[in-house]
Amino acid sequence: MIEYMKKTAGETEFLLRYPDEVSYTLEKETEILGNIREDPYHIMMVAVVDGKVAGNGSVTGVGPKRKVQHRCSLAIALYEEFWGLGIGSAMITYLSELARGIGWQQMDLEVVAENARAQALYKKCGFIESGRRHNGLRFDDGTYHDEILMYKDLT
Ligand SMILES: CC(C)(COP(=O)(O)OP(=O)(O)OC[C@H]1O[C@@H](n2cnc3c(N)ncnc32)[C@H](O)[C@@H]1OP(=O)(O)O)[C@@H](O)C(=O)NCCC(=O)NCCS
Repeated sequence: MIEYMKKTAGETEFLLRYPDEVSYTLEKETEILGNIREDPYHIMMVAVVDGKVAGNGSVTGVGPKRKVQHRCSLAIALYEEFWGLGIGSAMITYLSELARGIGWQQMDLEVVAENARAQALYKKCGFIESGRRHNGLRFDDGTYHDEILMYKDLT
């Protein structure tokens, strides 16, 4: 996971973290993954192609408060060599089924406005644009980027 987070963060600017911000020790990451495994409101999956990890997707509950208990949030990233093969679609289809099984009614996500590939994928998978966060991200080069808010009805 540590290698995955570093490498994917270096292959695209469309993820929240920069590679140097991945600073988990093996012990800390092992603890985090152990906690995720025990958490009934956290789904994490890897896609494997010919024995190689292609990417990771996760779904987490927005929170335990009753007013937001119906919502979950999606994150997904593949290594660049596996982009454009339909893996993202397959992962989201499966993650949506699992999320529905947990009882979540809505899946939310945020995507950088310039990330056309991800937005095409999300629309294909049933997500609808619901808003835009102005200057949600500031890149190291000083440029600001809006975030598009999207949701998918799981009911
Ligand atoms: C975004 C990501 C998860 C998509 O997964 P993927 O497996 O490449 O997606 P798929 O191949 O299933 O589908 C992508 C769709 O976008 C389309 N697409 C590809 N490049 C595109 C582009 N530049 N503009 C518009 N659409 C594009 C493809 O044609 C495909 O649609 P189709 O099946 O109807 O032809 C993956 O590319 C990735 O990990 N990117 C880097 C990290 C990232 O951006 N994560 C999302 C953060 S919100």
